[in-house]
Amino acid sequence: MNKHILIAYVSYFGNCRKIAEAAAHACEAKGASATLFPVMESTELPGSRDALLFICPVRMGNIVKPARSFARKIARDGGPFAIGVSHGAPLDHFFSPVKPAARLCRKMKRRGMEQIGEPVFFMVEGQEGPPAPGWEDKAEQLAAALIES
Ligand SMILES: Cc1cc2nc3c(=O)[nH]c(=O)nc-3n(C[C@H](O)[C@H](O)[C@H](O)COP(=O)(O)O)c2cc1C
Repeated sequence: MNKHILIAYVSYFGNCRKIAEAAAHACEAKGASATLFPVMESTELPGSRDALLFICPVRMGNIVKPARSFARKIARDGGPFAIGVSHGAPLDHFFSPVKPAARLCRKMKRRGMEQIGEPVFFMVEGQEGPPAPGWEDKAEQLAAALIES
C-alpha cells in the first residue's frame, strides 16, 4: 500500500509553507500520498499517517513556540519523523538553528518517535526569504527519506 506522509508546517513569511508544498509534490511524484497540515491554522491534531515531515522556522535562537507545542503533542503517536528547519542566520552563528533543531529531535525521540535522517536546514535570504537556491532538492530528499523509511 502507498505510504501516507503527513507534512506539517509552521510558517510566518511563507518559506516553510513553500518547502512543505514542494515536499508534498515530491511525495506524490514518488507514488506516496501527502497531506499538508498548517499547524497555526488548525485547531485539532491531524489524523493518522505512516510518517511525519515537520517543517518549521527558528526565531530568537529557538524553534518557534507553536512548532514546539505541536511536536510535543504529536510525538505521543510515535512513528517515524524527519524535520526541516528554515533559518536566516548562518549555521555557525550565535543564533544558528543547529542546536534548536537537535533539541527538538531529542524531545520527539524521547517521546517515542523514530528520527529518519539528520535535520535539513533551509537558509532563507534576509528574514523573509526566499529560500536559498537548492531548497527544492532538499525538500525532495526529505520526502524521499521518509518514503523509503
Ligand atoms: C523576529 C525574528 C527572529 C528571528 N530569529 C532567528 C534566529 O534566531 N536564527 C535564525 O537563523 N533565523 C532567525 N530569523 C529568521 C527566520 O528563521 C526566518 O524568518 C524564517 O526561517 C522564515 O521562514 P517562514 O517564512 O516560514 O516564516 C528570525 C526572524 C524573525 C522575524
